Amino acid sequence: MTGSTLLGMGHYVPPRVVTNNDLAGLMETTDEWITQRTGIKERHWVDGNVGASELAEIASRGALAEAGLTPQDIDLILFATLSPDLNFPGSGCLLQARLGIPGVPAMDIRNQCTGFLYGLKTADAYIRSGMARHVLLVGAEVHSTGIDVTTRGRDVAVLFGDGAGAAIVGPTEGAARVIDSELHADGRFAEILMVEAPASRMNPRLSPQMLEEGRHYPKMDGRSVFKHAVERLPEVIHSVLKKNGYALSDVDVLVPHQANLRINEMVTRQLGFAPEKVVNNIQKYGNTTAASIPIALHEAVLDGRVKKGQLVLLAGFGAGLTWGATLVRW
Ligand code: ACO
Repeated sequence: MTGSTLLGMGHYVPPRVVTNNDLAGLMETTDEWITQRTGIKERHWVDGNVGASELAEIASRGALAEAGLTPQDIDLILFATLSPDLNFPGSGCLLQARLGIPGVPAMDIRNQCTGFLYGLKTADAYIRSGMARHVLLVGAEVHSTGIDVTTRGRDVAVLFGDGAGAAIVGPTEGAARVIDSELHADGRFAEILMVEAPASRMNPRLSPQMLEEGRHYPKMDGRSVFKHAVERLPEVIHSVLKKNGYALSDVDVLVPHQANLRINEMVTRQLGFAPEKVVNNIQKYGNTTAASIPIALHEAVLDGRVKKGQLVLLAGFGAGLTWGATLVRW
């Protein structure tokens, strides 16, 4: 039966490295505080006016090259981001123009840290149903232009990095395929992690007072996010495995979203899963939201941690709240 598989991947982070010590020069924080609480040592930030679609283009061209395809082979673009280049239109349209493929449908996915998994399930459905052959799925974020880099915003500012990860999802009759995924959302907790302005429910959408109050910056109840993440992730992982007749011991590699090393360590402990089979790279990149799973997965493929024939489990949790897990036979 036709299924979908990842034919090629690419990833890109901007060259500018921002260390914890660099941040300590901008706000009251320390390398020790950030490392202990999050595991992050450095992240990459863009210089100047660079939008998510610019990072996405580089990652996408890498994925196309790995798949041995050209932009003309793409018949659907799915762009997962919480930091679109513009309020509207979506970054998918901008990426399509950059790739020079006018007419190809382009959709943005607004599911934050779970965006890549929502996109992968959508790509899989399009391919299984025959509605698309080659889907370009990309997660890309530019956080650095939207965070408060003063002491007021330090709880959030130290967490995020910029970057992009992309996959070409295409049809297969073979064993290597997306097996299944389970997705969830719970909007009752939308406000524990959000950017509230500018947005349609505010009239005016932005005022000098709102700017003064910093309401255009992300706001997070970090403890609550932490608590939800360490409950929901093990739950959805057990659920998708059980539904497909697998045990945790069948999983060769777990690639979780990179929100916080402490979250991933706690989830790994709760599962009773071998830490050496978990891919973590937040130390180098911080939290790149929709880009984090494809960047981590692609790095693990390139360095040989993910090998042909292995059972790979992707898991994500983020604002919305949204969360999910995807099983892939590599
Ligand atoms: N540097 C130094 N001190 C800081 C910083 C900072 N960057 N940020 C906050 N503090 C201070 C606070 O002001 C507070 O000071 P006080 O005790 O004098 O009031 C103190 O440190 C403790 O603050 P808490 O917010 O209670 O710190 P906590 O131990 O909860 O850690 C953290 C904060 C790391 C954000 C934690 O709650 C967490 O990991 N939450 C998960 C959220 C997350 O990972 N989000 C990522 C984005 S969401 C996603 O991708 C799903």
